Amino acid sequence: MIKVLFVCLGNICRSPMAEAVFNDMLNKSGLRQHIEADSAGTGNWHVGKPPHEGTRALLAEKRISCEGLYARQLMANDLEVFDYIIAMDAENEGNIRRMAGFAEKPAIRRLLDFVDDSKTKDVPDPYYTGNFDEVYELVAEGCRQLLNEIKKEHNL
Ligand code: 4NP
Repeated sequence: MIKVLFVCLGNICRSPMAEAVFNDMLNKSGLRQHIEADSAGTGNWHVGKPPHEGTRALLAEKRISCEGLYARQLMANDLEVFDYIIAMDAENEGNIRRMAGFAEKPAIRRLLDFVDDSKTKDVPDPYYTGNFDEVYELVAEGCRQLLNEIKKEHNL
């Protein structure tokens, strides 16, 4: 099983959206038996909470389920368990890399690194901007390209 972890700051806005969108793509492309996704936050303020109402509303509009998603904090063990750790922005990526230290690392990348012509490499934080539509567009394109890359790397 190929394991993918999406990481943001609070695990209530961006990374649960990415998890839900990516899982939806896996379901629709029949790859669920090969690839699984989860999400976590570098911070612990919202542990146990469901996604932010903005993320829930956006996903409902797109008919994508986020049932059963609750925020959790990134743990050192995640760096051993997951094959791909996908950060939403540079700050998340820096925090993940600090946690990984010099240990043999999983692939730690920013989601929009996978989008060649992206205007931004950071998914803006809608907790502050309030713009969940913009986040969805970036997350959906990032997830599409990430999935293409994983399929290529693993001959799926
Ligand atoms: P997220 O957004 O990292 O996309 O889940 C945030 C949610 C909560 C906070 C910051 C960002 N916060 O500071 O509580």
